[in-house]
Amino acid sequence: MRAIYLDHAATSFPKAPGVAEAVARHLEEAAGNPGRGGHRLTVAASRAVESCRLAVARLLGGDPARTLLGPGATFWLNTLLAGLLGPGDRVVVSALEHNAVMRPLRRLERTRGVTVAVVEGGPGGVPHARDVAAEVTREPTALVVLTHASNVSGALLPVEDIAAAVAPVPLVVDGAQTAGSIPVDFGSMGAAAYVCSGHKGLLGPSGTGVLLLGETLAGRLEPLVLGGTGSRSDSEEMPVELPDRLEAGTPNAAGLAGLAAACRWLAERGVEAVARHELELVRHLAARLAEVPGVRLHGWDPAAPRVGTLSFTVEEHDAGELAARLDREHGLMLRVGLHCAPLAHRTLGTFPSGTLRTGIGPFTTRADVDTLAGAVATLAGGG
Ligand SMILES: Cc1ncc(COP(=O)(O)O)c(C=O)c1O
Repeated sequence: MRAIYLDHAATSFPKAPGVAEAVARHLEEAAGNPGRGGHRLTVAASRAVESCRLAVARLLGGDPARTLLGPGATFWLNTLLAGLLGPGDRVVVSALEHNAVMRPLRRLERTRGVTVAVVEGGPGGVPHARDVAAEVTREPTALVVLTHASNVSGALLPVEDIAAAVAPVPLVVDGAQTAGSIPVDFGSMGAAAYVCSGHKGLLGPSGTGVLLLGETLAGRLEPLVLGGTGSRSDSEEMPVELPDRLEAGTPNAAGLAGLAAACRWLAERGVEAVARHELELVRHLAARLAEVPGVRLHGWDPAAPRVGTLSFTVEEHDAGELAARLDREHGLMLRVGLHCAPLAHRTLGTFPSGTLRTGIGPFTTRADVDTLAGAVATLAGGG
């Protein structure tokens, strides 16, 4: 039985060609502490980090001077929310947010009196720009935070339209599900910040993530974590310059060397081509699954913009049991449950039982997707 990985929305596997080699090469040849001192290994490690910064900035349309590297999207979302929101500030979010946004906000509600308004959106929870703008003008609002694509349904949010509609209120985009999966140009998005994982669509190692900052937030964002930077070591205060102000402690330089290789591979392959491939396969999968009696697709709109993620359930079948059988009997790896996004599942009407989620990646084939549809049909039919 061939093992088939269909959990790219959680993390990508396999990684891009060249990533494992770049990580190994870094550990064997360049594993000094970046920015700490001036010997050759430190210089080699610094080069690896800076080369990653350039590769990421180039791929996502960020300014390298305001491209920050860290351990993941969660870290950067926490940095933004804790670093920007003060007592009594109001935040507007969509009804599709991940807990990487909701949990920090719920704590800020308790500890700083921050208030959170959720825009319900249309079918599938995707908000219209005009509704977000109406919510923002209802009461003074400090920040809008939106996922770029739902990690449950794969639906894309119109972040460019929303950024324009809510201006000058800053928009933070959680791009965990879009970086590397659809073309992203932060420079023309209109958002104040864009956050993403390095280990999902960007096809890099886990323990890597990116924050792209626009000019307006770059001067005022406070670090979440403070410590050594290798620069201004005479001072017990954080340096004010970026990236050091927001990048305390020894970075995951080996992971970033891998992420740089992944970004270079994506640039060569073309994110546009990856997006086309994933969209074609997800549409094919949806059509095949829709033919299976009892299958329900959640948040699926064939005409709406989306990434290659699709959630479904099968009537009369427990999703957890189905996922276990798909893995055990058919070699298919899917994510089941609430996907760290209870708010999105409430919106889609799939809380608390959750869904089976298929995450398609650049190396997924039509045969993989057909195997899944066939296996679901077998299990749904009592096989
Ligand atoms: C929409 C969304 N936001 C944030 C995250 C957190 O990303 P990371 O694993 O890089 O911290 C995820 C990961 O599942 C996600 O899907």
